[in-house]
Amino acid sequence: MGLTNSIKQYIKEIDDYVIQSKEDLEQYRITFLGSKNKIKALFNEFKSLGAEEKKSLGKELNLLKQLAENKFKTLESSHSLKKEAKNQSFDLTMPSSIDGLGSRHPISIVRSDIEDIFARIGFNISVGPEIEDDWHNFSALNFPEDHPARDMQDTFFIDSEYSLRTHTSSVQIRVMEQGNPPIRTISPGRVFRNEAISARAHCIFHQVEGLYIDKDVSFADLKQVLYYFAKEMFGQDVSIRFRPSYFPFTEPSAEMDVSCNICNGKGCNICKYTGFVEILGCGMVDPNVLENCNIDPETYSGYAFGMGIERMTMLKYGINDLRLFFENDVHFLSQFSRDS
Ligand code: DAH
Repeated sequence: MGLTNSIKQYIKEIDDYVIQSKEDLEQYRITFLGSKNKIKALFNEFKSLGAEEKKSLGKELNLLKQLAENKFKTLESSHSLKKEAKNQSFDLTMPSSIDGLGSRHPISIVRSDIEDIFARIGFNISVGPEIEDDWHNFSALNFPEDHPARDMQDTFFIDSEYSLRTHTSSVQIRVMEQGNPPIRTISPGRVFRNEAISARAHCIFHQVEGLYIDKDVSFADLKQVLYYFAKEMFGQDVSIRFRPSYFPFTEPSAEMDVSCNICNGKGCNICKYTGFVEILGCGMVDPNVLENCNIDPETYSGYAFGMGIERMTMLKYGINDLRLFFENDVHFLSQFSRDS
């Protein structure tokens, strides 16, 4: 076999060489790098060649030698890695480490606090779609045709019929359409408004809607439940006040304020130096709304309320920028322990 062919054949042999054991590695070493190795024999043959052939084959022979050496290093290191892996024993029954577990998002923590408080006084949970039709988001709730919320400036419209719901009040319509009184439910969920994003406003936020429908429900019942809620949420010493307000779907309507948790009522930029922060809107369900859901307003009455979870969370934890809730910065999020 000529020298050129031998070189080609050895290149292939080296390339194809695989080892299973330390002995195989040693065998490779003896064959291609040992004192009587195959390549050495080629170099001996090379000595007897003419000057012209030496020129071209010398280079190839040196490359072959280099290839053999490099392959040895590769085989050697892959063998020692395998050995290392073999020596490590894993105990698959060991419990996994709990380091680095995530924490619950503050909005989720406060949402479940709210759910727990209302569950204790008999409210169940209901949900509705985030893409809502005009009837459930606006018309059934007594919104007049020219109400600003129906404007593209304020609402994300999908087409003339559907929009992203602007509040969770849409769920009260769905609950009343689907069930009969007595109804006692809260509806937590995401809502969407076409707002410029700032420390105080965002285009996505969370609300909890509440609805109670039965015979002889009065404004006093509403106040009593909301007083109970505020005290459970912010502590027995919290100051609470009601202010008259207006919503298309309630009559009469009110807003409820609690004393500012951040400055303890002394005045700060969160409470706009009033010592109080508005936490929810509420009122007696307008008879038109009951009628829209086929509930007889002569027999039944009820109250509704709606609160923003972000506002509540800011107050509870002293957070003054709404955007933090949506940025997913782990430094911020990891401050809220799993079971707080
Ligand atoms: N839907 C109102 C809002 O998004 C909040 C609200 C106010 C809900 C009064 C109610 C209510 O059920 O009675 O601002």
